[in-house]
Amino acid sequence: MTDPPYFLDKMDNGWDEKKVASTKYHHVVKSLPAGMKFDREQGKNFYEWYYKISKQILRVLKPGGFFFSFSSPRLYHRMVSAMDDAGFLIRDCFIWLYTQNQPKAMSLNHFIDKLNENEQTKTNLKKQLNGWKTPQIKSCFEPIVMAQKEPEGTFLENFRKYQVGLLNTQVKIGQDMFPANVVSTDAINEVVDKCFLISKPDKKEKGNFNAHRTVKPLSLCEYIINLTTYSPEAIVLDPFAGSGTTLVAAKKFGRKFIGIDINKEYLAMVKTRLNSLGRNVVPYDFVGAEKQLRIFEKKAKYKRLRKGKLAKAV
Ligand SMILES: C[S@@+](CC[C@H](N)C(=O)[O-])C[C@H]1O[C@@H](n2cnc3c(N)ncnc32)[C@H](O)[C@@H]1O
Repeated sequence: MTDPPYFLDKMDNGWDEKKVASTKYHHVVKSLPAGMKFDREQGKNFYEWYYKISKQILRVLKPGGFFFSFSSPRLYHRMVSAMDDAGFLIRDCFIWLYTQNQPKAMSLNHFIDKLNENEQTKTNLKKQLNGWKTPQIKSCFEPIVMAQKEPEGTFLENFRKYQVGLLNTQVKIGQDMFPANVVSTDAINEVVDKCFLISKPDKKEKGNFNAHRTVKPLSLCEYIINLTTYSPEAIVLDPFAGSGTTLVAAKKFGRKFIGIDINKEYLAMVKTRLNSLGRNVVPYDFVGAEKQLRIFEKKAKYKRLRKGKLAKAV
């Protein structure tokens, strides 16, 4: 499972760093500078890059293994095409739904002011375009593709051989509902919460030291790991680990994990987050429906069995 840079990062060389609102963590771009043209090559470059990444992920995954990848509504199609062309079966699209986000649409007043027109024309134009802004709607979801490496034989044959490739439908979402591909971490309203709400992000879950700008909710990563991993020997790989949310979720869930990130500062955060969980996090191999995700909130105690074997929730 991973949350790659959406190619808004400076992975192409065509962007002038000084013109792009860069943060101290220089891989992250806050927003496109005002008036920046839509780069038609961006999606194609992303496709080519992600095709190579997907090939490598396909190579190391077991047959039937899942590849969940976060994306943005604007570049999702390129990402999924790259994964599809690399050989993955595209099984579904999850949606992480939220209500709060900064609208990016810009007023045109700034550009109208620069027009070579008289003041009256400019005033009229501003009046005419009152409320009309650039085509950037407030974005309130993130698409997450669920892809799978082709299973060997039937699902059952593959599962018996590799312990992967099925979904654990005992995992519940909302108020004990069958797992869905829509997930919300905001309480929205009764119906949505009943069907799609998973635990709200806890303010402490990132850690005070965590300066990463795109930290994903832990409960979302837990949900996906809980849905898809069966064996305690399963390895969760995040090749763009950031501050390590996927890895924290895997560790909490008693799964093995491998995280990779290009940025050493982020890796230091990952280590701090993982260490803060302590050594005794080997949760369980099975949790009854009634306990499911909420178990994390209740700080359930676990008993570690000898020789690193699985422990059961107590
Ligand atoms: C969107 S962030 C992941 C955030 C993560 N989901 C979290 O919750 O903290 C993507 C990460 O990819 C890393 N990255 C960018 N290019 C990379 C590369 N070529 N190889 C490895 N990591 C890279 C960035 O440093 C960044 O931390």
